[in-house]
Amino acid sequence: MISLGRWLVASAWPYINYVPHLGTMIGSILSADVFARFLRMQGEEVLFVSGSDEHGTPIEIEAIRKGVDPREFTNINHAKVKELFDKWNISFDNYTRTENPIHKEFVRKFYMKLYKRGYIFSKEIEMPYCPKCKMFLPDRFIEGTCPYCGYPRARGDQCDKCGRLLEPTLLKDPRCAICGSTPEIRRTRHWFFDLPKLTDEIRKYIESNKNLPENARNMSLSILREGLKPRSLTRDNKWGIPAPFPGAEGKTIYVWMEAVLGYISATIEYFIKKGDPEGWKRFWFDKEVRSVFFIGKDNIPFHTIIFPALLLASGDGYVLPWRVESTEYLMFEGEKFSKSRRIGVWIDEALKMLPSDYWRFALVYMRPETRDSNFTWDSFIEIINSILNDTIGNFIHRTLSLAYRHFGEVPPRYSITSDDEKVLNELKRLHNEITRLFYSFRFKEALFRIVDIARLGNRYLNETAPWDLVKDNKERAATVLNVALSLVKALALLLAPIIPEHANRLWRMLGYNDDVHKHRWNEALEGLPVGQKLRKPKPLFMKVDRSKLGVPMKGQASPKISIEEFAKLDIRIGRVIKANRVPGSKKLLELIIDIGEGVQRRAIAGIGKAYEPRELVGKKVVVLCNIEPKKIMGITSEVMILAACDENQNPVLIVPERDIKEGAKVT
Ligand code: MF3
Ligand code: ZN
Repeated sequence: MISLGRWLVASAWPYINYVPHLGTMIGSILSADVFARFLRMQGEEVLFVSGSDEHGTPIEIEAIRKGVDPREFTNINHAKVKELFDKWNISFDNYTRTENPIHKEFVRKFYMKLYKRGYIFSKEIEMPYCPKCKMFLPDRFIEGTCPYCGYPRARGDQCDKCGRLLEPTLLKDPRCAICGSTPEIRRTRHWFFDLPKLTDEIRKYIESNKNLPENARNMSLSILREGLKPRSLTRDNKWGIPAPFPGAEGKTIYVWMEAVLGYISATIEYFIKKGDPEGWKRFWFDKEVRSVFFIGKDNIPFHTIIFPALLLASGDGYVLPWRVESTEYLMFEGEKFSKSRRIGVWIDEALKMLPSDYWRFALVYMRPETRDSNFTWDSFIEIINSILNDTIGNFIHRTLSLAYRHFGEVPPRYSITSDDEKVLNELKRLHNEITRLFYSFRFKEALFRIVDIARLGNRYLNETAPWDLVKDNKERAATVLNVALSLVKALALLLAPIIPEHANRLWRMLGYNDDVHKHRWNEALEGLPVGQKLRKPKPLFMKVDRSKLGVPMKGQASPKISIEEFAKLDIRIGRVIKANRVPGSKKLLELIIDIGEGVQRRAIAGIGKAYEPRELVGKKVVVLCNIEPKKIMGITSEVMILAACDENQNPVLIVPERDIKEGAKVT
């Protein structure tokens, strides 16, 4: 276990020309929030900051196009996004903005310091200029072919394909991003940050930082291998922070070079508001501080190279980023989120469909930790309906309603059996594992293990059947429900960072009057006070219905698979030999199926509401034989029965059109 300490949790500042989408959410803001909430429950000292990234060319262009002042435009968007983050329960200590005077003043002072220390120089350079649009073309104003990877739509400041940092004049076949014409080259004076001067220190930082994820380390090392180049600091744009250097009147600072300093200015602002203007230093100069930056992988070089270089150049002794937690991309139905092509879901639309906890749960469940992951409506609905509702929700509701009905309060444990002990030990083991996973930034896996607690609980209820025990062995029923309630309490606490509102609702059903977020993580192992009055339980979650979400029909946007991939499916005709209900479940049947040559396999199938076990025995069905085995309510399901879904979501078994021997391959 890591000992307690002081943490700065930061998430990348979203550009404020639009509302963030789900990919931005899980890539930075939501991930940071989950971690900050987790740390607070550990009793760690935490400061969680971010803000709106207001400057930069895309925002300026969009405002110009709308005929409004960029400041008016970002005022409106900032207010809107800030309110949305509240609705998503993002627990920022300070969510600020780059137009904030504290930020602007800090940035100007910071750069004057670097200037005096000799890290900034100016130079007449050649810059692409669009004669038609009558302007210089920095950053996103220009597009062309990446000189490193050949990607044809690289931008002037970065290539989206390989992630390399670029300069506008490096692009091959450049064109104006607004009108498409070929720019001419003109001379203009600009100021530069002397990045190469810091090469050795940056290399040392990257090589010695054990906390960089692999994607961040690899990209940083490859940038170092190619050699650091001076980074241009100024722009001819009007919208931005005025450059402070003598002779740079009328120029502004390049958006990235000031936005990264927002992490510091947001900390300063937080402490000024608290009436402790020196307090911020404890988060930026104390070597004990662990700072964690939650970003998408396209932001890596700015956080592992540029930002640390700026901090080093100041000579002030800032602590360098302890971890840059860079996620891969969340794709949307197999494609990149795209505002212009309307591919994706934005965080305001999402809330019109479902409460934020549903999205939070599903996004953590599909968090792109080591590789890109894909948001599909099918997987989203599956996560909500079968994991959040069936696995977690049902366990909680079964336990609470039995305990409430038969005892009205937390019943005592009379005598603990070895089975009870096994369950409690398993809870302890999972709790430990979950804590470790959170501290290792593996939130997705941590959530999987939290779901395992609910699975453990469901299995325990099925095996002990407290609904029968209450009839003739009330003491045993009390003990079982006490143990099950301990698992429910653990779920309330461990889910609190992920679904804060529902965790709190659950906490109150357990009879508490305060806020679950004020409690400590380790209370998850303490059980409940015997005799605590329970509140009348209501189902915590609801299932989602595709048609009500207003999302595209199933299959419409599903990704294509090749014939080779299809050929991997081992689908055969099987004959049902035995069929029984899974105890404690209305929906599940346990089927033993002969899949040819007397080979028998077990399937746990969710067809119990549509079929009686005895009508199935002897029936020929279609079976997927090489699916990964999965435990369902404690029983391993080895194969899968294929069924269609009718308009009322009822399963309809697929059967061969004429009699055919079991084992026959379906192709
Ligand atoms: N606005 C940038 C983006 O959305 C992120 C800026 S992060 C900060 O890609 F470091 F500048 F804060
Ligand atoms: Zn042009």
